[in-house]
Amino acid sequence: MPYTIAHLSDVHIPPLPPLSPGDWFSKRALGLFSWHRKWKAEHRVHILVALQRSLDALAPDHICITGDLTFTTHPGEVAQATRWLQSLGSTESISLVPGNHDAYVPGALEQACEAWAPWMTGDGGGQQQFPYLHRRGGVDIIGLSSGIPLRLPMTVGRIGSVQLEALRSLLAGLEGSDRPCVVLIHHPPQEGAARHGKELLDREALRSVLGDYAVDLVLHGHLHRPVRATLQGQRGTIEVLGASSASALGDRYAPAHYHLLEFDRDGGQTTIALRHVRYDRASDTFVPGEREVLTCATEPH
Ligand SMILES: [Fe+2]
Ligand SMILES: [Fe+2]
Repeated sequence: MPYTIAHLSDVHIPPLPPLSPGDWFSKRALGLFSWHRKWKAEHRVHILVALQRSLDALAPDHICITGDLTFTTHPGEVAQATRWLQSLGSTESISLVPGNHDAYVPGALEQACEAWAPWMTGDGGGQQQFPYLHRRGGVDIIGLSSGIPLRLPMTVGRIGSVQLEALRSLLAGLEGSDRPCVVLIHHPPQEGAARHGKELLDREALRSVLGDYAVDLVLHGHLHRPVRATLQGQRGTIEVLGASSASALGDRYAPAHYHLLEFDRDGGQTTIALRHVRYDRASDTFVPGEREVLTCATEPH
């Protein structure tokens, strides 16, 4: 039986709670205005219900979530996202990284990361720290944090030199492993995917680290549309897959969508297959697409 991973992103869990009095003079007030003007009609509770039905039916072994669980990182949103994570499955079956909307105002990322520590702490335990490593069902999953507090309308991300050096050490420690390696990050690492003001600032440095090691897949979000790219590492092709928002109707960007990945081990070789699972508005269901074997899995580590 293959090991299966569902990759979701940008859930922006509705609805937004009312602002606290102190928030009326912060960026959160502008965020709430933007939510009601543009996004409230896009991110729907009934799509999250359909998503849950789809996940129940396909029963992935693990779920990877690449950020933007909230819209303004309001404490009420963080608590709502925590309850949603708890409802998805066991703690060990979920790996989460934060997005820019989970770092909406200074100090918010720290509060969100504390609340979501059960899904963001590495297998070794200890202090919650990025990058973390989750070893699940023959797959190594590495989580990075790229969310930083910013002034509107900027939504850029940054990993930072400390995290990048820790990533290099982590990947070096996995050298020689024949397990597939999957990296989770909110912002896309490839060139040209995000427009100016929305991009990962240190994407070149990240690509340089990833390219030196046997990384198979990078999963990201942020763009609210399905995106596909490849990076050329010294060890072969790295597939880069961006998921749409998992709660979107599709009037502003793409309809809701997630990736279903199958890791099938045969001897020392693992085949990785992908299916897009897309939200269909007419039937209010998520529909799995054709199965496709990814090229990264055909190259030995
Ligand atoms: Fe988002
Ligand atoms: Fe984002």
